Amino acid sequence: MKMIAVANQKGGVGKTTTTINLGTALAQLGKKVLIIDLDPQANATSGLGAEADIDKSIYPVLMGQETIENSIQSTRFESLDIVVGHMDLSGVEVELANSNSRLTLLRTALAPLKKKEGYDYVLFDTPPSLGVLMTASIASADEILIPLQCEWFGLEGLAKITHIIRQIRESGHNDELALNGIVMTMYDSRTNLSKQVVREVETYFADEIYKTKIPRSIRISEAPSHGLTIFEHDPRGQGSRAYLEFAKEFAARG
Ligand SMILES: Nc1ncnc2c1ncn2[C@@H]1O[C@H](COP(=O)(O)OP(=O)(O)O)[C@@H](O)[C@H]1O
Ligand SMILES: [Mg+2]
Repeated sequence: MKMIAVANQKGGVGKTTTTINLGTALAQLGKKVLIIDLDPQANATSGLGAEADIDKSIYPVLMGQETIENSIQSTRFESLDIVVGHMDLSGVEVELANSNSRLTLLRTALAPLKKKEGYDYVLFDTPPSLGVLMTASIASADEILIPLQCEWFGLEGLAKITHIIRQIRESGHNDELALNGIVMTMYDSRTNLSKQVVREVETYFADEIYKTKIPRSIRISEAPSHGLTIFEHDPRGQGSRAYLEFAKEFAARG
């Protein structure tokens, strides 16, 4: 089982969209997947049509009041489960800001999942900030998957997050933390900017960048408002093809 944090401290880069569609694509490929929604905006929760019930969310798990096993809900996809997020998760930022265990508590809470060997992948959807929830996610994950929007300031964000990964490793809290890869999102093949950004990222992260790029697509952005994944909203479109292709590449990375 691998725990992967989908992270980038910048908002709107495609973290949630990637978590939802990668998760369902992996499930379609026969993998057993758990999505944990660690974002108070709970967009992965609503995007998968799950209910953001605070008692069943990751919140009491983080507070040590509930077990992870009791918090898992099934989704309409057979091998995809979810632990939902909730608006009140933001309280964790204050409640645990000065707690020594804030970096390790998620990892501790998720330890029973490692023992059970039930899931192939546990994907964390993380909030766009450098707060407790984001750092706890990174400190608890085996690997980080970075969605990067095909824009110049995406590159600055990349430098910041690779710095955070290094800091977490050096803190001794998670010295095996690895960069799973970088997936380029909202790629527009008609613009030079998209191509330039991809070329630039390829220069520095030749091994990490995924070959499959997620195209900018209205269908991808429409899907969550219907509570649907891209595979339901536009099964034959380029967005579906890209996310399925990406999932295959992701799974092949072992
Ligand atoms: N490939 C894409 N093409 C077009 N719009 C996208 C794409 N990926 C995400 N979006 C839209 O961009 C916005 C931000 O995406 P989201 O996944 O919520 O980012 P994050 O979780 O990083 O904040 C959302 O409105 C989403 O629907
Ligand atoms: Mg999000």
